[in-house]
Amino acid sequence: MVSAAGLCCKPLSDVLAVDYGGPSLATNVIPSHFSGDREAAVVLDVACGSGLVAKQMEEEGFKQILGVDGSEAMLQMSRKTGLYKELKRCLLGEEPMPVHWGLFDVVVIVGALSVGHVPVNVVRELFNFHATKNGGYIYMTTRDSFDNAEFKYALETELKQMEEEDLWTCVEVTEKEWIKVMPEQDYNYTTGIVYLYKKI
Ligand SMILES: C[S@@+](CC[C@H](N)C(=O)[O-])C[C@H]1O[C@@H](n2cnc3c(N)ncnc32)[C@H](O)[C@@H]1O
Repeated sequence: MVSAAGLCCKPLSDVLAVDYGGPSLATNVIPSHFSGDREAAVVLDVACGSGLVAKQMEEEGFKQILGVDGSEAMLQMSRKTGLYKELKRCLLGEEPMPVHWGLFDVVVIVGALSVGHVPVNVVRELFNFHATKNGGYIYMTTRDSFDNAEFKYALETELKQMEEEDLWTCVEVTEKEWIKVMPEQDYNYTTGIVYLYKKI
């Protein structure tokens, strides 16, 4: 049985074996909505892990990518990719976000909004203080699994609340195959939910 937690620090062969869909889903969804200049757009990769999301975003033409993660070990891996303009360590929910980063065209949180990882209140923190330009996109994912049900409910309640406050509009919410439960079984995937919002 494979869980998404800690997957990003596994060797690439393990990630391929379980067909972890998070980073490629982000890069399927974001470019289909983002109509600006990709080379100039500044992207914040939150809980960037080993850099899988940056790799996909870079292939889609996004070149200005900054990353933040709570783990120095993960930051060392992402640093080695050479894809990030800047990387900072921050345990989100416990420590204040690194300030004075300016505003981002796209903020991405893949594979980290779930129980025991990045808490729900970080979404509003990113939105309000540090991250997103007016008209910018915020892309998030969570797992649709029994152990994450309470977290998913709290996250969706917050996303809806922020919509009711006219802070953003919902562009897309989609259910996707997320990760193979058993690498040897092609059909047996857990489900992930991807959310794309646009700041008003
Ligand atoms: C499953 S990995 C996902 C990494 C990357 N986004 C991807 O999709 O490949 C989860 C990442 O979240 C980071 N993380 C978990 N909780 C965090 C927190 N509270 N603050 C910052 N980073 C956190 C971990 O260090 C890890 O790198």
